[in-house]
Amino acid sequence: MDMQLKCRQNGQFHIMCLGDLHENNDIDTPLGKARAEDMARLINAALDRFQPDLAVFMGDTCTDTDNDPEMFRAVVTRVTQPMVDRRIPFAFIMGNHEHDHHHEDMIVKTYASMPGCLIFNDDPSITGCLNYYHTVFSSDGETPVFNLWFLDSNNLCEDQAVSMYDWVHEDQIAWYERKAQELKERYGRLLPAVLFQHIPVPEEYDAMRPMKPWELYQSVKGHAAWSSVRYVAKENMRGYLGEGPCAPCRNSGQFASWKKTGDILAAFFGHDHLNDFTCVVDGVTMGQCKTAGFRCYTDGCRSSVRMVTLDENAPDRIETEVYRFKQDFGLKSQSLGPIQRRINDKQSFVLNVAVRVAAGAAAAVVGAVAVKQLQKRLKQK
Ligand SMILES: [Fe+2]
Ligand SMILES: [Fe+2]
Repeated sequence: MDMQLKCRQNGQFHIMCLGDLHENNDIDTPLGKARAEDMARLINAALDRFQPDLAVFMGDTCTDTDNDPEMFRAVVTRVTQPMVDRRIPFAFIMGNHEHDHHHEDMIVKTYASMPGCLIFNDDPSITGCLNYYHTVFSSDGETPVFNLWFLDSNNLCEDQAVSMYDWVHEDQIAWYERKAQELKERYGRLLPAVLFQHIPVPEEYDAMRPMKPWELYQSVKGHAAWSSVRYVAKENMRGYLGEGPCAPCRNSGQFASWKKTGDILAAFFGHDHLNDFTCVVDGVTMGQCKTAGFRCYTDGCRSSVRMVTLDENAPDRIETEVYRFKQDFGLKSQSLGPIQRRINDKQSFVLNVAVRVAAGAAAAVVGAVAVKQLQKRLKQK
């Protein structure tokens, strides 16, 4: 397999992102088998349609619970087989759940042994166990045109009073800045870059604003430090905002570092299983990759893949689009129940509206009853 990443003859480079699969080893059960098959049908259909030049597993990919290397290898083999069969190179980033059982060495070794896997740990002395990058070359293979960054956003924060989720640490940010400078010196210019990591940066909240009272039906509750507010998308967010982004509550300065370095065109994240929006914050495109699987919390047949297209003829532009299991590939789920299976985008939206309106109405009734009781008590006094 040619492991050099390079643009096609037309100058384009296509990346397929696969969010949180949470795949595991329960294919001996009918439900587990059906879920694995639904996932495989989505991945196979997407690979056949788009024939990407690179696939990226966005973390929380294969659940490891037993510390059984052979069992884990079987799951990783199953998940990566569609790429291996088509000789499509793939990258992998660590999700928080890849850190859960402290089996990072086993996980990295297993992925690294798969044909076409591009992972390596560039600097074992820094936080995280997979921080690396790859350069994409022009269609003739001569000129470097883009850089791809892959970072480990770690697990839960050690101090839960500070943040539920961890972040990309300062030493990882320093590594990124150092490597970007090295690449600039090597190639004589800054390469436009795309970054992939599991946990999103807090700046996604800059693409949202607090809801107005009449916007309850389309709002989401913020996560952790943002949880006292319900948010709606600002104008430059497109796609689906299904939950408050689960970003770390402490800002380690990663976004500021991207701006200072100046190479990041776009950053893509996993972790939030529902969100598939893209937004632009201070000139940087950020996009969520919702789950491409059927094992974690999700919404009907909306499991999807995200395509990212770079073009050496327009290196400062990026195109990205989400393609869904049912709506875009016309697939039928074997693992979802009869109601979930029938939910499409529009119905999911309507259901969300209905649930939120009902929640709002219930809150209003509870509030009204409380006020009445209070008035009654005051009268009694
Ligand atoms: Fe996840
Ligand atoms: Fe996660």
